Amino acid sequence: MSQEQSTNIIWHQSTVNRQRREQKNQHKSVVLWFTGLSGSGKSTLAHAVEEQLYQLKLNTFVLDGDNVRHGLNKDLSFSQQDRKENIRRIGETAKLMLEAGVITLTAFISPFKAERAIARTLMPHGDFLEIYCYCPLEVCETRDVKGLYKKAREGEIKDFTGISSPYEIPDNPELKIDTHALSLDDSANQVIQLLRSRNILPQQVAS
Ligand code: ADX
Repeated sequence: MSQEQSTNIIWHQSTVNRQRREQKNQHKSVVLWFTGLSGSGKSTLAHAVEEQLYQLKLNTFVLDGDNVRHGLNKDLSFSQQDRKENIRRIGETAKLMLEAGVITLTAFISPFKAERAIARTLMPHGDFLEIYCYCPLEVCETRDVKGLYKKAREGEIKDFTGISSPYEIPDNPELKIDTHALSLDDSANQVIQLLRSRNILPQQVAS
Protein backbone atom coordinates (compact mmCIF):
# COMPACT_ATOMS: atom_id res chain seq x y z
CA MET A 1 0.00 0.00 0.00
CA SER A 2 1.32 3.44 -0.91
CA GLN A 3 2.02 5.70 2.04
CA GLU A 4 1.52 8.77 -0.13
CA GLN A 5 -1.73 10.62 0.19
CA SER A 6 -3.82 11.35 -2.88
CA THR A 7 -3.61 14.92 -4.13
CA ASN A 8 -5.42 16.86 -6.86
CA ILE A 9 -8.75 15.22 -6.13
CA ILE A 10 -11.91 17.27 -6.20
CA TRP A 11 -15.17 16.23 -4.56
CA HIS A 12 -18.02 15.56 -7.01
CA GLN A 13 -21.40 16.66 -5.76
CA SER A 14 -24.08 14.09 -6.49
CA THR A 15 -27.54 15.26 -7.62
CA VAL A 16 -29.06 12.12 -6.15
CA ASN A 17 -28.29 12.88 -2.53
CA ARG A 18 -29.12 11.33 0.81
CA GLN A 19 -32.23 13.44 1.26
CA ARG A 20 -33.69 12.30 -2.06
CA ARG A 21 -32.84 8.69 -1.33
CA GLU A 22 -34.53 8.93 2.05
CA GLN A 23 -37.59 10.44 0.43
CA LYS A 24 -37.75 7.61 -2.08
CA ASN A 25 -37.22 5.01 0.66
CA GLN A 26 -39.74 6.71 2.92
CA HIS A 27 -37.46 6.27 5.88
CA LYS A 28 -34.34 7.86 7.26
CA SER A 29 -30.94 6.25 7.26
CA VAL A 30 -28.86 5.80 10.38
CA VAL A 31 -25.83 3.92 11.66
CA LEU A 32 -26.41 1.49 14.51
CA TRP A 33 -22.96 0.81 15.91
CA PHE A 34 -22.95 -2.37 18.02
CA THR A 35 -19.91 -2.77 20.26
CA GLY A 36 -18.96 -5.37 22.85
CA LEU A 37 -16.79 -8.38 23.59
CA SER A 38 -16.51 -11.34 21.23
CA GLY A 39 -19.49 -13.55 22.03
CA SER A 40 -21.53 -10.72 23.57
CA GLY A 41 -24.21 -11.14 20.92
CA LYS A 42 -23.52 -8.16 18.63
CA SER A 43 -23.92 -10.00 15.34
CA THR A 44 -26.87 -12.08 16.49
CA LEU A 45 -28.65 -8.97 17.70
CA ALA A 46 -27.77 -6.87 14.64
CA HIS A 47 -29.16 -9.58 12.36
CA ALA A 48 -32.30 -10.00 14.46
CA VAL A 49 -32.94 -6.25 14.28
CA GLU A 50 -32.24 -6.27 10.56
CA GLU A 51 -34.75 -9.08 10.09
CA GLN A 52 -37.47 -7.02 11.77
CA LEU A 53 -36.61 -3.93 9.74
CA TYR A 54 -36.51 -5.94 6.52
CA GLN A 55 -39.97 -7.26 7.23
CA LEU A 56 -41.10 -3.65 7.54
CA LYS A 57 -39.64 -3.22 4.02
CA LEU A 58 -36.86 -0.89 5.12
CA ASN A 59 -33.45 -0.78 3.44
CA THR A 60 -30.84 -2.31 5.69
CA PHE A 61 -27.37 -3.80 5.72
CA VAL A 62 -25.23 -5.47 8.40
CA LEU A 63 -21.48 -4.97 8.35
CA ASP A 64 -20.19 -7.84 10.48
CA GLY A 65 -16.64 -8.10 11.86
CA ASP A 66 -16.01 -11.74 11.01
CA ASN A 67 -17.45 -11.33 7.50
CA VAL A 68 -15.72 -8.07 6.63
CA ARG A 69 -12.43 -9.57 7.76
CA HIS A 70 -12.91 -12.24 5.07
CA GLY A 71 -12.93 -9.58 2.35
CA LEU A 72 -12.40 -5.82 2.57
CA ASN A 73 -10.31 -6.12 5.74
CA LYS A 74 -8.64 -9.47 5.24
CA ASP A 75 -5.24 -7.78 5.24
CA LEU A 76 -5.68 -6.73 8.88
CA SER A 77 -4.59 -8.52 12.06
CA PHE A 78 -5.73 -7.95 15.65
CA SER A 79 -2.81 -5.71 16.62
CA GLN A 80 -3.84 -2.37 18.07
CA GLN A 81 -2.81 -0.58 14.89
CA ASP A 82 -4.76 -2.93 12.62
CA ARG A 83 -7.86 -2.81 14.80
CA LYS A 84 -7.74 0.97 14.51
CA GLU A 85 -7.54 0.65 10.74
CA ASN A 86 -10.36 -1.91 10.79
CA ILE A 87 -12.63 0.54 12.58
CA ARG A 88 -11.51 3.49 10.46
CA ARG A 89 -12.51 1.64 7.29
CA ILE A 90 -15.81 0.51 8.77
CA GLY A 91 -16.57 4.05 9.90
CA GLU A 92 -15.96 5.32 6.38
CA THR A 93 -17.98 2.47 4.86
CA ALA A 94 -20.86 3.13 7.23
CA LYS A 95 -20.72 6.80 6.29
CA LEU A 96 -21.10 5.89 2.60
CA MET A 97 -24.01 3.63 3.43
CA LEU A 98 -25.64 6.41 5.41
CA GLU A 99 -25.42 8.58 2.27
CA ALA A 100 -26.87 5.66 0.29
CA GLY A 101 -29.99 5.85 2.47
CA VAL A 102 -29.42 2.52 4.19
CA ILE A 103 -30.03 1.67 7.84
CA THR A 104 -26.57 0.30 8.55
CA LEU A 105 -25.86 -2.02 11.45
CA THR A 106 -22.18 -2.56 12.29
CA ALA A 107 -21.14 -5.44 14.54
CA PHE A 108 -17.47 -5.06 15.48
CA ILE A 109 -15.82 -5.43 18.86
CA SER A 110 -14.46 -1.91 18.24
CA PRO A 111 -12.64 -2.05 21.59
CA PHE A 112 -11.15 1.44 21.68
CA LYS A 113 -13.06 4.54 22.74
CA ALA A 114 -10.98 6.82 20.54
CA GLU A 115 -11.77 4.94 17.33
CA ARG A 116 -15.48 4.72 18.15
CA ALA A 117 -15.41 8.46 18.81
CA ILE A 118 -13.73 9.09 15.45
CA ALA A 119 -16.38 6.98 13.68
CA ARG A 120 -19.06 9.02 15.45
CA THR A 121 -17.58 12.30 14.28
CA LEU A 122 -17.72 11.13 10.64
CA MET A 123 -21.53 11.18 10.73
CA PRO A 124 -23.87 14.12 11.19
CA HIS A 125 -24.96 14.57 14.80
CA GLY A 126 -27.60 12.03 15.79
CA ASP A 127 -26.94 9.65 12.89
CA PHE A 128 -24.55 7.43 14.85
CA LEU A 129 -26.20 5.41 17.59
CA GLU A 130 -23.80 3.44 19.74
CA ILE A 131 -25.26 0.25 21.20
CA TYR A 132 -23.20 -1.42 23.89
CA CYS A 133 -23.88 -5.15 24.08
CA TYR A 134 -23.00 -5.92 27.68
CA CYS A 135 -22.23 -9.49 28.56
CA PRO A 136 -19.72 -10.24 31.36
CA LEU A 137 -16.43 -11.72 30.20
CA GLU A 138 -17.04 -14.86 32.31
CA VAL A 139 -20.30 -15.49 30.47
CA CYS A 140 -18.76 -14.93 27.02
CA GLU A 141 -15.91 -17.19 28.02
CA THR A 142 -18.14 -19.94 29.41
CA ARG A 143 -20.26 -19.92 26.26
CA ASP A 144 -17.18 -19.72 24.02
CA VAL A 145 -19.31 -20.33 20.93
CA LYS A 146 -16.33 -20.20 18.56
CA GLY A 147 -13.83 -21.88 20.92
CA LEU A 148 -11.59 -18.81 20.70
CA TYR A 149 -11.46 -17.92 24.42
CA LYS A 150 -10.04 -21.35 25.19
CA LYS A 151 -7.39 -20.87 22.53
CA ALA A 152 -6.64 -17.39 23.87
CA ARG A 153 -6.23 -18.70 27.45
CA GLU A 154 -3.90 -21.38 26.16
CA GLY A 155 -1.85 -18.72 24.40
CA GLU A 156 -2.71 -20.03 20.94
CA ILE A 157 -4.29 -16.68 20.01
CA LYS A 158 -2.51 -13.52 21.07
CA ASP A 159 -4.05 -10.05 21.56
CA PHE A 160 -7.45 -11.52 22.32
CA THR A 161 -9.99 -8.95 23.50
CA GLY A 162 -10.83 -9.33 27.19
CA ILE A 163 -7.92 -11.71 27.77
CA SER A 164 -4.75 -10.18 26.39
CA SER A 165 -6.06 -7.05 24.71
CA PRO A 166 -8.28 -4.38 26.32
CA TYR A 167 -11.93 -3.57 25.80
CA GLU A 168 -12.80 0.01 26.73
CA ILE A 169 -16.38 0.24 27.99
CA PRO A 170 -18.46 2.99 26.33
CA ASP A 171 -19.09 5.97 28.65
CA ASN A 172 -22.22 7.24 27.05
CA PRO A 173 -23.76 4.85 24.55
CA GLU A 174 -27.22 5.67 23.19
CA LEU A 175 -28.24 2.23 24.41
CA LYS A 176 -26.78 -0.43 26.68
CA ILE A 177 -28.30 -3.87 26.34
CA ASP A 178 -27.71 -6.61 28.89
CA THR A 179 -27.55 -9.32 26.27
CA HIS A 180 -26.79 -12.00 28.85
CA ALA A 181 -29.96 -11.25 30.82
CA LEU A 182 -32.46 -10.48 28.04
CA SER A 183 -33.94 -12.70 25.36
CA LEU A 184 -32.98 -11.97 21.77
CA ASP A 185 -36.51 -10.70 21.09
CA ASP A 186 -36.42 -8.31 24.05
CA SER A 187 -32.97 -7.06 23.07
CA ALA A 188 -34.09 -6.48 19.46
CA ASN A 189 -37.19 -4.66 20.69
CA GLN A 190 -35.03 -2.27 22.69
CA VAL A 191 -33.20 -1.33 19.52
CA ILE A 192 -36.46 -0.92 17.58
CA GLN A 193 -37.70 1.28 20.42
CA LEU A 194 -34.59 3.42 20.11
CA LEU A 195 -35.26 3.85 16.38
CA ARG A 196 -38.84 4.84 17.14
CA SER A 197 -37.75 7.40 19.71
CA ARG A 198 -35.38 8.92 17.13
CA ASN A 199 -38.07 9.04 14.42
CA ILE A 200 -36.08 6.82 12.11
CA LEU A 201 -38.97 4.53 11.27
CA PRO A 202 -41.64 5.71 8.80
CA GLN A 203 -44.81 7.13 10.35
CA GLN A 204 -47.02 4.15 9.48
CA VAL A 205 -44.81 1.76 11.48
CA ALA A 206 -43.81 4.21 14.16
CA SER A 207 -46.30 3.16 16.84
S1 ADX B 1 -12.12 -5.47 16.21
O1 ADX B 1 -11.50 -5.51 17.54
O2 ADX B 1 -11.15 -5.12 15.17
O3 ADX B 1 -13.31 -4.59 16.18
P1 ADX B 1 -13.67 -7.47 14.87
O4 ADX B 1 -15.05 -7.23 15.37
O5 ADX B 1 -13.32 -6.96 13.51
O6 ADX B 1 -12.62 -6.95 15.97
O7 ADX B 1 -13.40 -9.04 14.86
C1 ADX B 1 -13.68 -9.78 16.01
C2 ADX B 1 -13.92 -11.25 15.71
O8 ADX B 1 -12.74 -11.86 15.21
C3 ADX B 1 -14.27 -11.99 16.99
O9 ADX B 1 -15.66 -12.11 17.14
C4 ADX B 1 -13.61 -13.33 16.84
O10 ADX B 1 -14.51 -14.23 16.22
C5 ADX B 1 -12.49 -13.11 15.88
N1 ADX B 1 -11.14 -12.98 16.47
C6 ADX B 1 -10.06 -13.66 16.04
N2 ADX B 1 -8.96 -13.28 16.71
C7 ADX B 1 -9.35 -12.36 17.62
C8 ADX B 1 -8.65 -11.59 18.63
N3 ADX B 1 -7.34 -11.71 18.81
N4 ADX B 1 -9.37 -10.74 19.39
C9 ADX B 1 -10.68 -10.62 19.21
N5 ADX B 1 -11.41 -11.31 18.28
C10 ADX B 1 -10.74 -12.17 17.48
